[in-house]
Amino acid sequence: MIQDDYVIESIPESAWQVSRRSFIKRLAGGIAAGGALVYGTSASASAEAPQDLETAVSGTDPGDERYWHAVRSQFLLRDNLALMNAANLCPSPYPVMESVFKYTRDLDYDASFQNRAKYGRIREETREKMARLLGAHPDEIALVRNTSEANNAVSTGFHLGAGDEVLLSDLNHPSNRHAWQVKARRFGFKINYVSVPLIPRNEDEILDAFDRAYTPATKVMSFTHVSNTTGLTMPAKRLCAAARERGVFSLVDGAQSFGALKIDLADMGCDAYSGSAHKWFMGPKEVGVLFVRKDSQDAVWPAIVSAGWRDEVEESARKYEVLGQRDDAALTATGRGVDFHEKIGPARVEARMRQVATAIKEGLSGLPGVVLSTSMEPALSAGVVIFKPGELDPRKVFAKLYETYHIAGAGMGPNVRLSPHVYNTLDEADRAVTAVAEMLRDGV
Ligand SMILES: Cc1ncc(COP(=O)(O)O)c(C=O)c1O
Repeated sequence: MIQDDYVIESIPESAWQVSRRSFIKRLAGGIAAGGALVYGTSASASAEAPQDLETAVSGTDPGDERYWHAVRSQFLLRDNLALMNAANLCPSPYPVMESVFKYTRDLDYDASFQNRAKYGRIREETREKMARLLGAHPDEIALVRNTSEANNAVSTGFHLGAGDEVLLSDLNHPSNRHAWQVKARRFGFKINYVSVPLIPRNEDEILDAFDRAYTPATKVMSFTHVSNTTGLTMPAKRLCAAARERGVFSLVDGAQSFGALKIDLADMGCDAYSGSAHKWFMGPKEVGVLFVRKDSQDAVWPAIVSAGWRDEVEESARKYEVLGQRDDAALTATGRGVDFHEKIGPARVEARMRQVATAIKEGLSGLPGVVLSTSMEPALSAGVVIFKPGELDPRKVFAKLYETYHIAGAGMGPNVRLSPHVYNTLDEADRAVTAVAEMLRDGV
């Protein structure tokens, strides 16, 4: 039976109360409610209903590989698929997936204002949970649609003009680079770029590169917390402190750190932080988070204003999420995502993700010809592992990893990216290293 705090009163129990067992059977049979989506046909998908997380992990501890196999059992993952693509898109654990399913049914069953009234309260509960997870105040959290939107909320909402300058890292994602470039052309401000060494020797090297790039006209500084293209983790706290000392607004793109690293935004000291629920957070698709520190909110105008705007929303980060009709099922499921993280514990999530990523890096670094773009230093890396597979064509390696070895990574120009998470096992890390070793031996 689905465990849920929110009572859906309008639908007769029989209409919505899908037991985990029948839910799994439906998915295995390729029949999701109201559609014909095929989610999976693996043995695990048709097996007995999974237990909840507490039951699944009982009798094990996080130092024990069985604990992580139990965590993996919380996902409808295709059997034998080593999914190592968290930097792009993560699966959701059952409680999140079921929540999306259940509340979508609720909305389709009764889309009246009366039935939907509860979603305002639920959204506030989700905001409170998210604030707790990120070390922020609920008034500093906007539930938006993805990192792209959150980054653009800042680049559009921050008032800049001729004579102003913005400082960006050359590792920034297009949503935090091209977005600024388009606005620079429109409003006449200038962008300066910090070139960060591929594998810096230490944090100071990064700090120094930023230091040299500031000018008296710099108003905003932004960098990617963990790079999706090199795996470099930036010293966020120190970079934000340096910006603050100069009176410069800092935006941290957290697409590759939100849900992966234990984040404490009060401690990080940034003015703004962005993230996507559908990446490392393992939440529903198309939900994002934008944090804007309370005393920095006056500097960022809302980019989108729609129905629901009231004077009160201007007093908090809620002003950044008046975006028109939202997916209440996904926003509700986001709260379930926080529950899932808290049940494991964000520090444990980070430690496990690092353990698997480190096993992959160590294995790959021993292979002849393989060049890692990602540092071995914990302070300068996280869950994104980027490597050049010797002289092999990376597109062929990416394809064969999936087709022959059932390992889903990503092709990144001359490199291959593996981004493992808590649902990966150490066996899978070994499998990935062995696969690359065999491809090097066989010339793909
Ligand atoms: C660093 C970084 N920022 C922003 C994004 C955009 O995320 P989304 O497509 O969820 O908006 C990505 C996506 O991979 C990313 O890696």
